Amino acid sequence: MTRQTDKTDKRGKTDKRAKTGGPAQGGAADAPKPKRMPGDPDRRGMVARMIRVDHAGEYGAVRIYEGQMAVLKGTESEPVIAHMAEQEERHLATFDELVADRRVRPTALLPLWHLAGFALGAGTALMGEKAAHACTVAVEEAIDEHYADQIARLEGEGEEALRQTFEEFRQEELEHHDTALEMGAEEAPGYELLKGAIKRGSRLAIWLSERV
Ligand SMILES: [Fe+2]
Ligand SMILES: [Fe+2]
Repeated sequence: MTRQTDKTDKRGKTDKRAKTGGPAQGGAADAPKPKRMPGDPDRRGMVARMIRVDHAGEYGAVRIYEGQMAVLKGTESEPVIAHMAEQEERHLATFDELVADRRVRPTALLPLWHLAGFALGAGTALMGEKAAHACTVAVEEAIDEHYADQIARLEGEGEEALRQTFEEFRQEELEHHDTALEMGAEEAPGYELLKGAIKRGSRLAIWLSERV
């Protein structure tokens, strides 16, 4: 038997003004979406998940470029990769701070991303410079979609500084994407297949890091 919540009148009508202590869940479909207030547990949870997954993503990105660098030192890609790696390190440092300041639990999957990121970077680089750049295109496409989605979800949530940070990083990820294309990513053998597989893997990593 379900617990009788809120006051129901003698005809069984629920009082719509009843205080529920939180946004109504599963209510009338046409009811306006309740606005989350700063400090609201739902909103804090949402922001914590965002920081957790972005921290994981930037951690993985650093490892991908470390893997690429291990293989492509001395090639014409080296300075290009070094520049992108430097930006990823700055992104990661920012999320390290956010994780600490906001007491967000980092994903339990960091050890996995440590290995998988490096393996992905080194593995594609071993297939050739262009394959390494195809990997960057794929990852950055997934990250662009992901940051764009977060930026949209943070609208009006009282997190302007965080939203700005996401937007700034998103722009840099887009630069990485364009740089990788300029470096001939599309000429990598099996480009579409490779890109598709890495993009699906990146989306899976995002999905997992939001939850685990
Ligand atoms: Fe990044
Ligand atoms: Fe990037």
